[in-house]
Amino acid sequence: MRTDLALIGFGNVGRRFARLIEERRERLLGDDDLDCRIVGISTRRHGSAFDSHGLDAVQAAVIVERGESLSELGALAARPHARSFDIIGMLAVTNAPLHVMVEVTPLDISAGQPAIEHVRAALACGCHVTTANKGPAAFEYRDLRAAADAAGRSFLFEGAVMDGIPLFNLVRETLPAVKMLGFRGVVNSTTNYILSALEEGEDFEPALARMQAEGIAEADASLDLDGWDAAAKAAALANVLLDARITPHDIRRSGIGPGTAAAALAATGRGNRLRLVATARRGATPVVEPVELPPGDLLARVRGTANVLILQTDLLGEIAIAQLGGSLTETAYALVTDLVTIRRRQQALHEGLARRTL
Ligand SMILES: NC(=O)c1ccc[n+]([C@@H]2O[C@H](COP(=O)([O-])OP(=O)(O)OC[C@H]3O[C@@H](n4cnc5c(N)ncnc54)[C@H](OP(=O)(O)O)[C@@H]3O)[C@@H](O)[C@H]2O)c1
Repeated sequence: MRTDLALIGFGNVGRRFARLIEERRERLLGDDDLDCRIVGISTRRHGSAFDSHGLDAVQAAVIVERGESLSELGALAARPHARSFDIIGMLAVTNAPLHVMVEVTPLDISAGQPAIEHVRAALACGCHVTTANKGPAAFEYRDLRAAADAAGRSFLFEGAVMDGIPLFNLVRETLPAVKMLGFRGVVNSTTNYILSALEEGEDFEPALARMQAEGIAEADASLDLDGWDAAAKAAALANVLLDARITPHDIRRSGIGPGTAAAALAATGRGNRLRLVATARRGATPVVEPVELPPGDLLARVRGTANVLILQTDLLGEIAIAQLGGSLTETAYALVTDLVTIRRRQQALHEGLARRTL
């Protein structure tokens, strides 16, 4: 089924996603009849592009990586004055049966904007939404979920926490009737990588520089270091899994800095590990803070960019989900899994309607 996509944001994640859907084109077509076509791209400083017949998104990625504007794509596709909301509006009226807005702009920790308004606009004009941006689920999950339900559209964000690991999918698809009681986890790759480097006696700055060079650190690295990224993930997890109605600003939060090196080395000297841990219990406000963990704690064992989350449940006890190495491909893959979910939901809806009319 022809599925038209608009990418709002075309940075590290957006460009990896554009390439990934080309790399997996045959599998997506063969397994799920998902025929994706990127018709719109919007950026902040690199221009915008739209073509209802489909853009050459891989070429667009090359252009942006050269530091050039999407106007290089040609006069018809280039939309130098189009804003993100214009691109979303143009996406909604192409002749494809499925329209998906892919929101991959940076996290705005003050209020989750403009990502939340991008999501609202897309749902309002009949598009489905997938995002790797934590803002929408961390600040406005309940309202956006209600807007999606009212519109009969999907609002999915698998890539917002632990990249491509099926976390929200796991709970939604495989844990019916289970009540989540809480969670604790190491959910920020940049700080975990730096803490692992510090305990080996490395310096703070080069470890951070490596995470920035790999595109894993947030564009504004203070979001990782000050614990904001982990707080946004904890808020999204609490809102979705624990029925909370909080924002990252409600979370008690502390991060790491160059001064953390002494504490990391001291913890290692005692046989322990210092990790930035996000903790939440149903009904209580989550906390993000560096914690010295004994070596037997699962959270102490994740090193480098690895993440781990322990879900506390009423029927299954504790369930641990680990991601042993995160990269852009995993995050881009999460967006692909959301596309497949959207396609399967649509197929189920059509089959249900067909059965009812028999
Ligand atoms: N990188 C990761 O490993 C990772 C993992 C999980 C989740 N995420 C999340 O995924 C999202 C994207 O991350 P990223 O690494 O791709 O970020 P990035 O490399 O900084 O790219 C952000 C993109 O958004 C564009 N942009 C900024 N403001 C915009 C606006 N108002 N309207 C339209 N476009 C706008 C930027 O355009 P210009 O370049 O022209 O300014 C750029 O194309 C973030 O929310 C991040 O938290 C990232």
